[in-house]
Amino acid sequence: MQDLDKIVAEAAAAFDAVNDAAALEQAKARYLGKQGALTELLKGLGKLAPDARRDAGARINAAKDRIEAALAERRQALARTRLDARLAEESLDVTLPGRGLARGGLHPASRTLERIERLFRSIGFDVADGPEIETDFHNFTALNTPEDHPARSMHDTFYVKGDAVPPLLLRTHTSPIQIRYMQAHVARHKNSPTMPEIRIIAPGRVYRVDSDATHSPMFHQVEGLWIGEDVSFADLKGVLTDFLQKFYEDDTVRTRFRPSFFPFTEPSAEVDMTCVFCHGAGCRVCSQTGWLEVAGSGQVHPNVLRHCDVDPERYIGFAFGMGPDRMTMLRYGINDLRLFYEGDLRFLQQFI
Ligand code: PHE
Repeated sequence: MQDLDKIVAEAAAAFDAVNDAAALEQAKARYLGKQGALTELLKGLGKLAPDARRDAGARINAAKDRIEAALAERRQALARTRLDARLAEESLDVTLPGRGLARGGLHPASRTLERIERLFRSIGFDVADGPEIETDFHNFTALNTPEDHPARSMHDTFYVKGDAVPPLLLRTHTSPIQIRYMQAHVARHKNSPTMPEIRIIAPGRVYRVDSDATHSPMFHQVEGLWIGEDVSFADLKGVLTDFLQKFYEDDTVRTRFRPSFFPFTEPSAEVDMTCVFCHGAGCRVCSQTGWLEVAGSGQVHPNVLRHCDVDPERYIGFAFGMGPDRMTMLRYGINDLRLFYEGDLRFLQQFI
């Protein structure tokens, strides 16, 4: 029995010597396990006389308690070390500035289109759409652009490889949407005595063989079409003037029509507005004229109406085509169209 103290001391030393939980459990087995040193001693108690047995039993149990206490203490110490190590490893620096969420934004060209749509919707125009790969018929023929018209030149247009005769092409303007919309509208109302008025705009991408500081091979147009029994150039002028004043947030904007030519309108007119920079006084932006060209327009040609089964004797229509890219440049003071398509965040982030 004299070696009880020695066993307790040995156990405590063994526990102290290990550095992880698994090794500690092994060390425990050596002292408290089935074949542990203390267990062996307890097994020997049966051989003793009753008095001696009670005395020895009590002392062995006391030693066992001390070993268990040493074990518990070591367990705790190891757990604390483990926790400290984890805390050090997974340290969280609450003073670091947060990463935050990067804020995205709409491209300036999209902003302009949304703005145009909103303004026209507010005065009762619908927004129509059409395919960017068009047929020769919709892009040219139906728009009173005969086969030998120079606009059809291979150099002015991107044609699509394939079996279609004549070949499909990337639309050169949004005017084919006029045709598609009128045809669908006529079909929708073929059984009613009067065809409801058509009042639409059609924004979209168009393509031409062109590339410099103010021309890109892909650019945007917004088509407008207004057809009814009693519509006039005055109505068109009123709508366009009102729209331009709202778009540029400037009530002093005035417009003028200048005679022009488009195959699909007759008469045709360019729409000019007073320069948004000098208000008509003359500056570099407007080449000292005081006016900026903003749209092509005109009365829809009877041949165009006929192609869509709209009676030109009964209905009169007006169409216009605007260049929203130029409008974006004017509104934000951007001097190179190519900036729109380079994807340079330093440029684009200014519009968030
Ligand atoms: N489609 C013409 C162009 O691209 C613009 C236009 C549209 C002119 C509608 C008159 C009427 O130049």
